Amino acid sequence: MSIVITGANGKLGSLIIERLLQKVAADQIVACVRDLEKGKHFHEYGIEVRLCDYDKPDTLEQAFAGASKLLFIASSNQDDTIRLRQHAHVIEAAKKSKVEQLLFTSFAFLEQDSISTSHLYMATEHAILTAGMPYTFLRNSLYTDFVGVLGLDAAIAAGELRIAPGDWSFNTVTRDDLARGIAAVLSEGDHRNKIYELTASRPWTFDDLAAALSDLSGKSVVLQEDAGIQNWIFGFLRKINTSSTSTDLERLIGGPVTPLKESIKPFIAL
Ligand SMILES: NC(=O)c1ccc[n+]([C@@H]2O[C@H](COP(=O)([O-])OP(=O)(O)OC[C@H]3O[C@@H](n4cnc5c(N)ncnc54)[C@H](OP(=O)(O)O)[C@@H]3O)[C@@H](O)[C@H]2O)c1
Repeated sequence: MSIVITGANGKLGSLIIERLLQKVAADQIVACVRDLEKGKHFHEYGIEVRLCDYDKPDTLEQAFAGASKLLFIASSNQDDTIRLRQHAHVIEAAKKSKVEQLLFTSFAFLEQDSISTSHLYMATEHAILTAGMPYTFLRNSLYTDFVGVLGLDAAIAAGELRIAPGDWSFNTVTRDDLARGIAAVLSEGDHRNKIYELTASRPWTFDDLAAALSDLSGKSVVLQEDAGIQNWIFGFLRKINTSSTSTDLERLIGGPVTPLKESIKPFIAL
């Protein structure tokens, strides 16, 4: 068995490889990177490293050769039109390389979203279906990291967390929870032709976030709605489905996801 992973040097890819090493032998893993020099550290674990650049189709077929499972981590390019082309290169190469199963990191509950990125993920899923290979869509929730742009330290200092009015609820989880779920899919069981919504099983709210900030800081932090708030994140959040939940991730990791209070610690200077 050969598990080939693109985006191996990225934040999610690195965590998946870390988790996967706890489940399979290193010689079953191939790390695909854009810069071989930056991928050298994988050799220390006995992991093969291959060059893979979504913009250079000639690197891809070689990178994917012999893959029983190819984990295709979505490109991080900022331009969704460029990403569409990059993703097409990956799918075409996966087909030519006769990859046995293509697993793609998509986005959770994207069907009704109104951002171009969700359209891109949907288009990629359709292109994979069109190519006709066995697939698994790993639809990742928004990372809980988004709380970093809410100004949590300022909220603690002011004793209030200011948010745009709305009926907010969140299915987000940490990258490490996603990595645990994806490593399980890569190493255990048959997940061919399945779609997983990798989200929290119960939503959390801004009230929960204010309570977690109070707990962590030992100071009272109250929630304050502010119709005039200037923060791009609320406009973004309104365009995606952050409220639907699924038990897929908890089933895959065999237990609960990381609690909100624990998940937000990296975004607070305590
Ligand atoms: N669910 C969410 O909330 C959320 C948030 C942000 C992003 N995402 C998506 O999830 C993906 C993984 O997240 P992450 O946190 O691991 O992002 P990340 O740390 O930025 O990693 C992205 C990875 O994609 C690789 N990559 C970018 N362009 C490439 C190309 N042309 N050819 C080959 N590889 C390329 C990068 O390679 P290098 O290491 O060489 O740069 C990097 O390893 C992102 O790429 C993005 O599509 C999801």
